[in-house]
Amino acid sequence: MGRENIGIVRFNQKIGKTMRVLLIGSGGREHALAWKIKQSKLCDKLFCAPGNAGIGQIAECVNIQVEDIAGLLDFADREKIDLTVVGPEIPLSLGIVDEFTRYGLKIFGPSRAAARLEASKIFSKELMAKYKVPTAAFRIFDNLQEAESHIEKIGAPCVIKADGLAAGKGVIVAKTVNEAKQAVIAMMQERLFGESGNRIIIEECLEGQEVSIIVITDSKEVLALASSQDHKRIFDNDSGPNTGGMGAYSPAPIVTNELFKEIMNKVIYPTIDGLAKEGIDYRGVLYAGMMLTKEGLKTLEFNARFGDPETQAILPRLKSDLLEIMLAASEQKLNRIRTLEWDKRFCVCVVCSAGGYPGSYEKGKEIFGLDKAAQMPDVVVFHAGTKLLNNKVITNGGRVLGVTGLGSSIGEAMDKTYAAVREISFQGMHYRHDIGRKALRY
Ligand code: AMP
Ligand code: GLY
Repeated sequence: MGRENIGIVRFNQKIGKTMRVLLIGSGGREHALAWKIKQSKLCDKLFCAPGNAGIGQIAECVNIQVEDIAGLLDFADREKIDLTVVGPEIPLSLGIVDEFTRYGLKIFGPSRAAARLEASKIFSKELMAKYKVPTAAFRIFDNLQEAESHIEKIGAPCVIKADGLAAGKGVIVAKTVNEAKQAVIAMMQERLFGESGNRIIIEECLEGQEVSIIVITDSKEVLALASSQDHKRIFDNDSGPNTGGMGAYSPAPIVTNELFKEIMNKVIYPTIDGLAKEGIDYRGVLYAGMMLTKEGLKTLEFNARFGDPETQAILPRLKSDLLEIMLAASEQKLNRIRTLEWDKRFCVCVVCSAGGYPGSYEKGKEIFGLDKAAQMPDVVVFHAGTKLLNNKVITNGGRVLGVTGLGSSIGEAMDKTYAAVREISFQGMHYRHDIGRKALRY
């Protein structure tokens, strides 16, 4: 597989703003994608399905849900969309890329078979085992009693994972045998995640710092994005329950050049090559979540999409034209993109969430201070769970905003971001005060 750029493939795209683009999703990640796509020299018109209040300021939002593959296909066909960009995992796992491709519509994202890397943890573990991608030792179970006796045999701590998608809740790091058994019962007997828990994985509990790398690939070429670090716990100092992600910064100093090379050689390339050997062409975003353990680098999971909120911290640093890159990947001509150019500055994204999240929370709270925050230099406010009601922006989800700031040091980026966060308020608003602090140590 040629990793170098061999030969010159002519860039056929007509010069000028010619493309009609459809973006799918409604979170902070999608607002960051919309913001970046809108800056592309190729983008003439941007639609987003279904979008949010912030996306609505820069794109035309259309009320089609992300699961409605037929509706999205119909819209893309009718509106003569040149490229569709898929944000979340659900439409990928439902085969949106296969459907669009079947009708000759260009789309950026992996096929259903390729997206199984995220949609089926068993598929992903078996692929890693087969192609010697380092990962935690594991066993697969489809029988409750056998799973329970395995837990008794290996003891705690151990990690229980539902095979299928579970809105980020399908992984339980169990500290006791009892907790592990409860997790297995919830998944296999009480069917907490429906069919996603038909089969489960019980794996070795790893310890160490988590790192992630996100790449764009067309299965032949791979372009890595700048490193980033997510913060999954709700409270400062990584305490409290897991969330979808409460903030991120980029670059992540923990990812040294040496570690980056190791990640590419041990995880990213063997995974993409392994899929190719299985007859699966991976085109789109590949996100590898890993842990640096005493025994070395181990892979925790793959996602078949951009991370949220990592994207909000990465894209403000990307100088290259993202739309051009995504178009090239979808045409399997990624070799026409030489390198990615980055702003050397640091970027911090702080998520403002609704009171109660990740548990139950209220919606419909008016958000104040958005304009003032957005006017601050080097600050962008990405919307996640927001909507417009009577010309007022109100909360409409658990993660509400991703306030993002750039600075020449991580400290400056933190200062700018937190100054903007302090301009914003809504009833019950919560945010972490320590996003970026870990990077200060380096
Ligand atoms: P995953 O969706 O597989 O990344 O799991 C979500 C989170 O669970 C990860 O970000 C880790 O914090 C944790 N996790 C997953 N697998 C393991 C493991 N084998 N050992 C320890 N923690 C894990
Ligand atoms: N921030 C982790 C994810 O997007 O899955």
